[in-house]
Amino acid sequence: MSEKRKNDHIELAFKSQVSEKENHGLYYEPLLGSHQKVDLTCHAFGHELKAPLWVSSMTGGAERAKDINKRLALACQKFGLAMGLGSCRPLLESDERLADFQIRKYIGEQPLYANLGIAQLEELIEAKKMHAVSELLKKLDASGLIIHVNPLQEALQFEGDQFKFAPIQTIERTIDALDQTNIIVKEVGQGMGPNSLKLLLDLPIKGIELSAFGGTNFSFLEHSRHIKKESATLEPLLDFAYIGHTAQEMLSWINTFAEQNSLYKEKSLIISGGIQSIIQGHSLLEQSNLNAVIGFASKYLKPAMDSQEVLDEFIETQINSLSLCKNFLRRS
Ligand SMILES: Cc1cc2nc3c(=O)[nH]c(=O)nc-3n(C[C@H](O)[C@H](O)[C@H](O)COP(=O)(O)O)c2cc1C
Repeated sequence: MSEKRKNDHIELAFKSQVSEKENHGLYYEPLLGSHQKVDLTCHAFGHELKAPLWVSSMTGGAERAKDINKRLALACQKFGLAMGLGSCRPLLESDERLADFQIRKYIGEQPLYANLGIAQLEELIEAKKMHAVSELLKKLDASGLIIHVNPLQEALQFEGDQFKFAPIQTIERTIDALDQTNIIVKEVGQGMGPNSLKLLLDLPIKGIELSAFGGTNFSFLEHSRHIKKESATLEPLLDFAYIGHTAQEMLSWINTFAEQNSLYKEKSLIISGGIQSIIQGHSLLEQSNLNAVIGFASKYLKPAMDSQEVLDEFIETQINSLSLCKNFLRRS
């Protein structure tokens, strides 16, 4: 060992006293693994991925979104991962921002899902224009459609949409109109309760993205934008930003439902929303009764804004961390 390293150890030892521990319900078993890379290949939503990581829906429809999406897509292609596009709503109006979303050429064969909000689907169904969604999926060469269900975000948004129907009805009508089951349903950062989850498990869709409470909170974000424009009389609405369900809660409900009905195990999950670390994600993956991947949104945003190199390095570190988890952390 070099003298410099020995000196570093002496100097840094006093600054390296960590007293809090966060095991996420896992046992650290230093005797059981090695530093060999583990095969992380997994299956979810009918796709094979090289690691259980999903780039959750984020952006599009703004100038800098184009570079961000391109980098995310290239990283998915490089590491064998999957990606959901941000809301493709701008493309329902015109092709002006098509280049932001048209990233099939970068992601290659990896799964790429288009994304639309429940409000847009409700509008298209009412106007008998669902062919626009099929055309959109074709234009993007998408593997399927992610539907985001965000009633609280809409309610706290300055120019938010109002739903005329309960989202479950719109989802059912979308499945009928599109005549395809390659559909994933998600929230946008507040998760959903057991009754909604059960209804989704009963539908002929591919699965659910939890998009749970604890990370990016769009209701809070929209309220902050709102407050800037309006007055403090809107303050009572803010309480709704603190409503929601964590990934741990949602997974427990889904697991219980899957124990009661094994057909639910044919669906897949993106465990996302406030996942703070690979160790936490790994712990949740290990608990899942359904095929599952870990989804991150905001955690990928910053490295994707920096550069391709920074993003690739970040994801490579995540993959190495998953390997470490598999080697040295056990649930029992
Ligand atoms: C910048 C940004 C934009 C987002 N845009 C969308 C969107 O267009 N459609 C969608 O379904 N979710 C969107 N989300 C929500 C994420 O997909 C995810 O559900 C949520 O951010 C929770 O994940 P996180 O805690 O890892 O950020 C967005 C998130 C971020 C950070």
